[in-house]
Amino acid sequence: MINENCIIESSYGKDISNAMDYHSLPRFRWYGYKEGFSPNLVEEAIQKVGIEKNDYILDPFNGNGTVTLTASINNIKSVGIEVNPFVAFMSQTKLENFSSKDFSDNMDEVLNSAYKSKPSLLCSFSTFSEKTGKDKWLFNSDVLNSFEGGWQALKKFPEAKKKIFQLSLIGAAMDNCNAVKDGKCLKYRNNWQNRGFDRDSFIFTLKERLKNNKEDLEKTFIPQNATIINNDARQAIKSVIPKYKLCITSPPYLNSFDYTDIYRPELFLGKFIHTAEELRQLRFNTIRSHVEVALPKPKQSNFGEIYHSIHQKIKDSENNWSKQIPIMIQSYFEDMQQVLFDLLIKAKNKGELWLIVANSVYVGTEIPVDLILAEIGTQVGWKLKRIEVLRYIYRRKTKYCGNINKVRESLIVFRRL
Ligand SMILES: C[S@@+](CC[C@H](N)C(=O)[O-])C[C@H]1O[C@@H](n2cnc3c(N)ncnc32)[C@H](O)[C@@H]1O
Repeated sequence: MINENCIIESSYGKDISNAMDYHSLPRFRWYGYKEGFSPNLVEEAIQKVGIEKNDYILDPFNGNGTVTLTASINNIKSVGIEVNPFVAFMSQTKLENFSSKDFSDNMDEVLNSAYKSKPSLLCSFSTFSEKTGKDKWLFNSDVLNSFEGGWQALKKFPEAKKKIFQLSLIGAAMDNCNAVKDGKCLKYRNNWQNRGFDRDSFIFTLKERLKNNKEDLEKTFIPQNATIINNDARQAIKSVIPKYKLCITSPPYLNSFDYTDIYRPELFLGKFIHTAEELRQLRFNTIRSHVEVALPKPKQSNFGEIYHSIHQKIKDSENNWSKQIPIMIQSYFEDMQQVLFDLLIKAKNKGELWLIVANSVYVGTEIPVDLILAEIGTQVGWKLKRIEVLRYIYRRKTKYCGNINKVRESLIVFRRL
């Protein structure tokens, strides 16, 4: 029977689940991503599971690409699935090889073009610049125009040579954005009106980023490319062939965090989407862990005893911040049940699934997502090996979290027998 007594404290060092310390590593630093886990965890899994020459590693929620980049550096085949086209592009770009001499030759062309600037269509779109007449805007138009100048210079570059420059241009624009990522949303910087981001500050940060790219290209060669699939994992796992030996992944947490919203500026800057409707459509393809759009209603609820008692409590409460919360919770576990089943079918005999998840809190009640997923996993046919606490995540106090100020982030290890 699965319950709190099954959970063990971590045998790993501090913060192995958190990528914060790895932002300075070559290639990892090309684009920051708060939600990532550590490459050490991937290396640990590779060691424990024992990967042979023809085996590959799968991450169906590839995010930043910690799994695909670590596997590629270690010359191991891997496949990453990621629904957000900007995020998929980011993880793909970190794998690119490019001679550093070629890179330097092209670098000046991009910088000169950014210096000259070109009119950006985003200047008249939504909250992107002061030109839209809104009282808050994400970018000063000089930043957007300089970005566009650099972007246009890439038109004549072969496809393979564009990516690293594109990622650095997007990164430099975000360094000069009037808002920063803060938990679930973009938050305007203190005193943002007086910071005066402009063409010169944009070029300054772009130069820094290109310098880092060049240094890393000189230092690191990627011996094994990974396959990055930009698609919904609920569709794409079924199409992955052949069977994998190790899947290591952290799905979206049950925290109403909408990654498409957080990466909205990047999605538009990189021209991955062009309209609000395209953004809305993208949300329908994400795991149902947020209430941003009216997602299809769930049909299943057979997720075990722990789920039932907790879900009833949350349904009965008057204090949910959105009426959609109980439906979102049910939908999340329905999606994860399907994912866990599809992953079992695609695992080799004795293949392992390492799942990193955090618990969440609604109406002052902690939802033990780790225990519920462990129950669902065993229901669909996985053998549970262990549940291990990786760390505790401290929470900001809000009126919805009662007295709970920290939640577990756990590693669940399943094996296919
Ligand atoms: C917690 S993050 C993964 C972080 C990753 N482990 C790393 O180290 O960078 C979850 C990712 O799942 C993606 N995602 C959400 N719904 C998805 C879906 N239906 N299919 C594939 N990816 C999805 C999100 O865009 C996000 O990048």
